[in-house]
Amino acid sequence: MILVTGASGKVGSEAARLLGAEQQPTRALVRDASRAPLAGVETVTGDFDRPDTLDAAMRGVETVILVSPAVPAQEIAVIAGAVRQGVQHIVKITSKASADSPVERRRGQAQIEEYLLAAGVSYTLLRANAYMQNILALAPMIKQSGGFVMSAGDGQVGMIDARDVAATAVKVAVSPEAHVGRTYWLTGPDLITYDDVAKELSDALGRTVEYRRTTPAEHRAAMLQAGVPESVATSNAQAFGLIAEGDAAWLSGEVASVTGTAPRPLRTFIADHVAAFT
Ligand SMILES: NC(=O)c1ccc[n+]([C@@H]2O[C@H](COP(=O)([O-])OP(=O)(O)OC[C@H]3O[C@@H](n4cnc5c(N)ncnc54)[C@H](OP(=O)(O)O)[C@@H]3O)[C@@H](O)[C@H]2O)c1
Repeated sequence: MILVTGASGKVGSEAARLLGAEQQPTRALVRDASRAPLAGVETVTGDFDRPDTLDAAMRGVETVILVSPAVPAQEIAVIAGAVRQGVQHIVKITSKASADSPVERRRGQAQIEEYLLAAGVSYTLLRANAYMQNILALAPMIKQSGGFVMSAGDGQVGMIDARDVAATAVKVAVSPEAHVGRTYWLTGPDLITYDDVAKELSDALGRTVEYRRTTPAEHRAAMLQAGVPESVATSNAQAFGLIAEGDAAWLSGEVASVTGTAPRPLRTFIADHVAAFT
């Protein structure tokens, strides 16, 4: 049995869908049962803040695909529950984790990874570059104003479709033996700037979509004004500032080497989601 946490989210929902389609015995953990009506998949409700629900969800599970907002106390609770329940392998979705990063989220990921490595359960780390799905958050602004505000400058990003992160996680979870203790760096096929995003959106929509550059400080203020929680706005603005400096300009071939299939380019992502921008 494979348990997918965060099964209503970007990676978790696709991982559960793929496992269901492959008829792998799968349990999808969500906190709201109405969020995950997945064919061929057992749904279990649970909350990362309630260890009793995690233990119940992990009974009889061999492998966990661990996706969460990466709050250290929450993911550590999931890992502890997995160890208690005799889970054999954890596939952890992570990012460019670093204990001395200026970005709180990355320090949190480093803390979780450190706990996982010492927990005595076998693991695989999937360190993903930024998701193309983040572009969907720009849709309301694009619909309203014909463009988007962003503080990533001309920084390139090895942006990946979250569906390819999910496909990689599924491949590992179904046959973990070859991936024990491995770390894979996951990216899309191309280095993309936000000018490229604007151009691809313009081509798909048949009208100009503008990329309006702003500074990380102004961007943070705008996110706060739009109701984004302070810690998220701060981490996002820091991450975009780092992107402007080249921090996300990395590519790898590891999606294809694990799954046997090339990751989706930006054009495919936008074609598949064009309705969100119209
Ligand atoms: N976004 C990126 O660009 C990116 C890039 C690289 C790596 N990552 C990593 O990917 C991971 C997930 O990020 P994401 O952006 O994919 O997140 P996401 O799509 O928002 O998924 C988070 C999931 O966690 C669930 N969740 C939140 N709080 C919960 C709780 N207390 N109990 C149970 N479930 C809860 C959410 O459920 P609800 O639907 O109920 O909220 C959702 O299903 C993180 O480790 C992140 O660092 C993200």
